[in-house]
Amino acid sequence: MQLFLDTASIADVRAAARYGVISGVTTNPSLLAKEGGVSYRERVQEIASVIDGPISAECVSRKADDLVLEARELASWHPNVVVKIPIDEEGLEAIHRCSSEGIRINTTLIFSVNQALLAALAGATFVSPFVGRLDDVGEDGMEMVRQCVAVFESYGLSARVLAASLRHPLHVTAAALAGAHIATIPPTLLPQMMKHPLTDVGIQRFLDDARKAGIL
Ligand code: E4P
Repeated sequence: MQLFLDTASIADVRAAARYGVISGVTTNPSLLAKEGGVSYRERVQEIASVIDGPISAECVSRKADDLVLEARELASWHPNVVVKIPIDEEGLEAIHRCSSEGIRINTTLIFSVNQALLAALAGATFVSPFVGRLDDVGEDGMEMVRQCVAVFESYGLSARVLAASLRHPLHVTAAALAGAHIATIPPTLLPQMMKHPLTDVGIQRFLDDARKAGIL
């Protein structure tokens, strides 16, 4: 499973890039709004100069014709831009039209396997089930990820399942076990994934013993 970083913060992207474990970045309007009025285009281009992989930028138009125009604009920002389009009737038409033009699409706000299937059939490159938001309303978000993966594999659909709206380290493990091709994680999850109290205790013990052994 690949890891993408779910952020519009260039500082967070730079900090995470040094580990070599991040293969792409996902942004959305809510993440951009936290960045204090920065130009979306400039921020995406900055991110693309740090991470050499798919960078998702999200459309805000609501009609298919407008979505197609907006998607063309976002895709022109950088060759690695993947355009996010939410699934609904207008969105699905736009996904089909954009994919036919060679624009890579990440279908966002997926909350059911049927939505994921439609997005994949329409030509989306990535399909993003929102795990945490489904959990929030008492449904099993990770089960939907598992079912999306199973359906795509059964029918040879090329769309990649991108587990999104992940909130804690167990979500990442569960996404990997569910067969997600990618998990996009908020920057706070990266240090949480690295840490284990027994690792800290172990490092300290080896340092103490290294001093006793005279090698430190
Ligand atoms: C990423 O593509 C999604 O927009 C993001 O993971 C949503 O996360 P949230 O539910 O925590 O806002």
